Amino acid sequence: MCGIVGFTGGKQAAPVILDGLTKLEYRGYDSAGVAVSDKDGTIDIVKAKGKLKVLGDLTDGGKKLKGLCGIGHTRWATHGEPSENNAHPHCNDEKTIVAVHNGIIENFTPLKEKLMRRGYTFYSETDTEVATKLVDYYYKKYGEPLRAISEFALHVRGSYALAVLFKDYPGKIFAIRKDSPMVIGYTDGGAYLASDVPAILKYTRNIYYTDNHDIVLLSEKGVTFYNLDREEIKKDATVISWDAEAAEKGGWEHFMLKEIHEQPEVVKNTVNYFLHDGKLDLSELNLSEEYLKDIGSIIITGCGSAYHVGVVAQYVLEDLARIPVRVEIASEFRYRKPVLSGKELVIVISQSGETADSLAALREMKQNGVKTLAIVNVLGSSIAREADSVFYTKAGPEISVATTKAYSAQLIAMYLIALKLAKVRGAVAGEYYATLKKELTLLPEKIEKTLALKEEVQKFASQMMDKKDVFFIGRGIDYAVSIESSLKLKEISYIHSEAYAAGELKHGTISLIEDGTLVLGILTQKNLIEKTVSNLVETASRGAYVAVLASEKAEGIPEKFERIFRIPETDEHFFASLAVIAMQLFAYYLSVLRGNDVDKPRNLAKSVTVE
Ligand code: M6R
Repeated sequence: MCGIVGFTGGKQAAPVILDGLTKLEYRGYDSAGVAVSDKDGTIDIVKAKGKLKVLGDLTDGGKKLKGLCGIGHTRWATHGEPSENNAHPHCNDEKTIVAVHNGIIENFTPLKEKLMRRGYTFYSETDTEVATKLVDYYYKKYGEPLRAISEFALHVRGSYALAVLFKDYPGKIFAIRKDSPMVIGYTDGGAYLASDVPAILKYTRNIYYTDNHDIVLLSEKGVTFYNLDREEIKKDATVISWDAEAAEKGGWEHFMLKEIHEQPEVVKNTVNYFLHDGKLDLSELNLSEEYLKDIGSIIITGCGSAYHVGVVAQYVLEDLARIPVRVEIASEFRYRKPVLSGKELVIVISQSGETADSLAALREMKQNGVKTLAIVNVLGSSIAREADSVFYTKAGPEISVATTKAYSAQLIAMYLIALKLAKVRGAVAGEYYATLKKELTLLPEKIEKTLALKEEVQKFASQMMDKKDVFFIGRGIDYAVSIESSLKLKEISYIHSEAYAAGELKHGTISLIEDGTLVLGILTQKNLIEKTVSNLVETASRGAYVAVLASEKAEGIPEKFERIFRIPETDEHFFASLAVIAMQLFAYYLSVLRGNDVDKPRNLAKSVTVE
C-alpha cells in the first residue's frame, strides 16, 4: 500500500526521498509525489501518475527541487482513480500546509461536508486532501502545529500515517500515526521518517518504532515525541541488525527469486534460534507449560498466504498435539461472533504485522479476553506489539509482494509450536519427538535439494505458459499446499487457477476439466496418495494434462501421468516446507515467461493496511 518517506537535515531532501521511495516500491503504488520546503518555508510540490521513474525524470532525480526538508509518497489508489491530481502530497489553498498520508480516513465524507460548510473547496477525490484541510482548519483555529495535529487525531476515524510540512516552520516535519506503519530514524546528519525500515536503512540503523497516536517532530537537530496531550514522551531506539543489502536484489533478477533461494537459510535461522543442542526453547514466547497444558483449543487467523500456513498448521497441530484447531480468514473472523470459552489461544499469523484485517481480528479477540500469540516477521509492527506473545520469524526483510521465505518461516514457527504443545501435553512419544526435532534441522538441506528442481520446473513452465486454467489438488497437507500454490500462481502469472481438496472435485468442479486443462496433483501424504491418484485419473480421463509433485518414495503413480517431479522425503507433517518450494518456482518462471512484473504484480500491495 502507500509508502511515505520524509527527511530533514544537512543535505538536499528530494534525492533522499526519491531514493527511499524506490525502496518502498514493493508496497505497490500507481502514482507518486514529493514536496520540498526551502529555507523560508516555501513549499514546492511535484507529482506524477505512474512509476517513480516518471517523477524522477521530472525532477532530475530530485535535483531540481531545492530544499533541505521534504516529504514524499507513493500512492495506491483507494479514494479516487490513480492520477496526478489525486496523487500526494496534498495541500491547503495557500500551499502553506502540505501533507502525505498512508491509510484510510473512514469518516472523510462528514468531515469534508463540515469543512465545505466552513468555506473549504476540494480539488481531488482523496481522503488525504480532507485530512490536510482538517489540519489547516485546526492550525488556523489554534495557531500551533502540535495542537492542529492532535485535534486532527481526535476528529478522524480510520488509519493514518500522516506527515505534514508547515510553511511557518521551515526545516520541520510533523507526523502522527494510527494503525498504519511509520518508523523514524535519526543520525547526526538529520532525521528520517518512512513507512518501512528499508527506505532509510542506508542512512541510519537507529530506528524508533512509533505507537498509535505518537506525534513526532523531526528537525535537523533531532526527533521529539509527544502524546495527544502534547506532552513530550520518551522512546527508545532499536538498532537494526540486518543491513541494507538484505533488502537489495544483490545480483538476482528479481527479489522473489532471491527470496526463494534464501529459504534454506531462513528455515535454518528460525529452527536454530529456538532449537539448540536438541532442546526446544520457546521461553521467549512467555507461555508457561501450565498454560500450554491448559489450552482448550486453538484458533489460527491470517490473510492470504498467512492463512494458508494456518491450514497446514491445523493438520500438524491436531495430529501431533491432539488439540482442537480451527483456522479462520481474518477478514471474515473479525466480523463473526464466535462462541468462545475463554480457554482458546488465538494465533495471528502475519509477515508484515500490519495487515488491517488480521490486526482487527487480534483486537477483537483481545477485547473478548482471549489470549493471543502473533507469528510475525517485522519487528515492532502493530500486530507484534499488540499481541500478548510474539514469535518473531527470522526471515529478514521480504520485498517481493508474493511471499515465499516468510511463508516458509511461518511454517517452521507452527511446527515448533506444535512440537512444544505435543510434548507438554504428552501427546507424542519421546522417541518420535526426538525424530521430529532432528527432522526439522534437516529441512534446510532438503529445501536446498528441492531448489535443484529449478531447471526442470523452468522447462515445464515454458511448456505450460499458454494454459488458461490450472487446478491444484491434494488431500490433507497436500491440499493446504495446493491453496498456497494456486494463490502464488494467480497473483504473479495472472493465470486462472483453482485449488481443490482432491475428493471434492467430483462434487461440481470436475465439469470444468477440458482437453489439455493442467491439473497438478500433490502427493506427499503416504496414506492419501492412492485416493488422490484416483481423483487425478478421473481428470485425466476427461482430457486433463496431469502432472504430479510427489515425495521420492511415493508409490503407485501411474506412468500415464505426463510429468512427475520428485522432492526429498521428510516426516509427513513437514512436507509442505518442501512441496511449496517447487510450486513457488513454477509460479515464478511462468510469470517471468509471460513478461509480468514479478515482484510488483498488478493491483497488489505487499502490506494490506486497508480492509
Ligand atoms: O503481511 P501478511 O502476512 O499479513 O500478509 C497477508 C497477505 O496479504 C499475504 O500473505 C498475501 O496473500 C501475499 N501476497 C501472498 O503471496
